[in-house]
Amino acid sequence: MNRPHDKPSPGQGDGSRGWATTRRQFLRGLGLAGAVSVLPRSSTIMSVSADTVQRTDGLEEWGRDAQSLTLNVNGRAHTVKVQPRATLLEVLRYDLGLTGTKSICEHGACGGCSVLWDGRAVQACLCLAIEAHDHEIITVEGIADDPRFVPLIESFCAHDAAQCGFCSAGFVVRAAELFLRGRSLARDEVRRELCGNLCRCGAYTKIAEAVTAALARGGAA
Ligand code: FES
Ligand code: FES
Repeated sequence: MNRPHDKPSPGQGDGSRGWATTRRQFLRGLGLAGAVSVLPRSSTIMSVSADTVQRTDGLEEWGRDAQSLTLNVNGRAHTVKVQPRATLLEVLRYDLGLTGTKSICEHGACGGCSVLWDGRAVQACLCLAIEAHDHEIITVEGIADDPRFVPLIESFCAHDAAQCGFCSAGFVVRAAELFLRGRSLARDEVRRELCGNLCRCGAYTKIAEAVTAALARGGAA
């Protein structure tokens, strides 16, 4: 189904800016990065049943204390059975298959796992999934499907604000929080606001330019 924000933006595809990457290609790239990052963990899973997950490495056997939990993610209710110690990051990636949320440091240091929690960007690796009950969670996939954030995604594409793209989902989520505030910021202020997100490729300058330009165009509020 075509959505309004799937339409090419002015200047795209006409060669006028020498810039051909579309928003959808950009987000597809994030998904590929997610697929790579899930491999080491999923490769340790031996069998899955309703109550247990047996891992070939013998380190964990999930399920004895599993609880049923309903999460509101990207506007949909998802009921999952999880261990009380499961992080929101684990449930998003491994139970709901939302691999746009990256698992990188798992210690709250990189911002790659950022999600919107009632409109605020939080690090999902530091949150227990059971804490998210009764809260509205939006992942980068939800942002991609929300027409309000089209100018933000377009700005990331137009400013070529990624190299490998592995950090991009976290930056987009953090920028989405700023975008929801609905006011523009100077580039130095944007850099300060994004300081909790790390980029190993050092694409900070273009990321800050992209976010600054998007906020100048007008936020989502
Ligand atoms: S994976 Fe959560 S902050 Fe790095
Ligand atoms: S673009 Fe490669 S880690 Fe940021």
